[in-house]
Amino acid sequence: MEAGRAVDPQKLEPFMGKMVGDMGAALSGSLVITGVKLGLYKTLAEMGPARPHELAERAGISTRYAREWLSAQAASGFVDYDEAAGTFAMNPEQTMALADEDSPVYVAPAFEVIACAYIDEPKVTRAFQTGEGVGWHEHHECLFRGTERFFRPGYRAHLVASWLPALDGAMEKLEAGAKVADIGCGCGASTIIMAQAFPNSRFVGFDYHDASIERAREAAREAGDPANLRFEIAKAKEAPGEGYDLVACFDCLHDMGDPVGAARHIRSMLRPDGLFMLVEPFANDRLADNLNPVGRMYYSASTMVCTPGSLAQEVGLALGAQAGEARLAEVLTEAGFRRIRRAAETPFNLVIEARP
Ligand SMILES: C[S@@+](CC[C@H](N)C(=O)[O-])C[C@H]1O[C@@H](n2cnc3c(N)ncnc32)[C@H](O)[C@@H]1O
Repeated sequence: MEAGRAVDPQKLEPFMGKMVGDMGAALSGSLVITGVKLGLYKTLAEMGPARPHELAERAGISTRYAREWLSAQAASGFVDYDEAAGTFAMNPEQTMALADEDSPVYVAPAFEVIACAYIDEPKVTRAFQTGEGVGWHEHHECLFRGTERFFRPGYRAHLVASWLPALDGAMEKLEAGAKVADIGCGCGASTIIMAQAFPNSRFVGFDYHDASIERAREAAREAGDPANLRFEIAKAKEAPGEGYDLVACFDCLHDMGDPVGAARHIRSMLRPDGLFMLVEPFANDRLADNLNPVGRMYYSASTMVCTPGSLAQEVGLALGAQAGEARLAEVLTEAGFRRIRRAAETPFNLVIEARP
């Protein structure tokens, strides 16, 4: 303990209150995963106010578990409780966040990503000591599907409606017929959305992680197998082809060991009038300006996944998920891009346009 500084009980009490809140949040994430897996939120949202045994019957689970789960959900504020009626119900906002996969704020799958941080914590803790990395592919599989499910609603809400229109001339090219690559596409959520929106254009998604590409192909089949879409295994710096009108990286440049090398390669894939759309987690340039709930989430994910992922690859620049626009612009400039600007933003994402 720091000498000479007495503990201030006035400060300790609210701080303990915050810690208890965080402990509850950290524990309740696992209950969200259970709720999603067993369709409990969806079932309750469809039913309206229900008693535990009614939810249990409809969802096909044990009543005792239903009562305990519902009590925890009410304490979390994830469902409403009516003491007089003895019922639990989901209001429209809770339904959007936890039950409706098509809502733009369906955040329930975030807890699958968070689960991976706990499951893989021993690997990352060891890496702190050795300085080595932990590759994206070395994580538990809940990271891959969790990321797909967590990011998809945001892409569905913003990608075609606002991010692509914010890029200079992109919509005209995409509507007329453009050649597009989505590099570091993961399970392909963004690639599939674009391919469905622009049937005259051709899309290819690349990722180095074979299991993600396998899942992307399966997701494409689930989406009706668009003829203008394919997925290939490739590292960013080795993605084949040239003459692209648009190359995009969604939330992955900072995961790469050599983002400068990757961006330089992307530049070489583009036509002279081509566009690089770089989507990265929202961040301000100064650490002090990121000390907020979004920054907390991203720095934590960055510590457990993104930074170890980059350190596991060649160069190991480890940009981190909170690099910020100025640092990203440096990377793009070093890679040879000349015209760089922020095209759009949301509370969670920065969208940067870069031209050769
Ligand atoms: C956070 S995920 C984002 C996935 C996807 N773009 C999305 O938005 O859902 C990061 C992705 O970057 C991929 N990745 C990391 N390093 C890579 C590299 N050097 N080349 C290609 N892909 C890479 C990972 O395999 C992972 O799928």
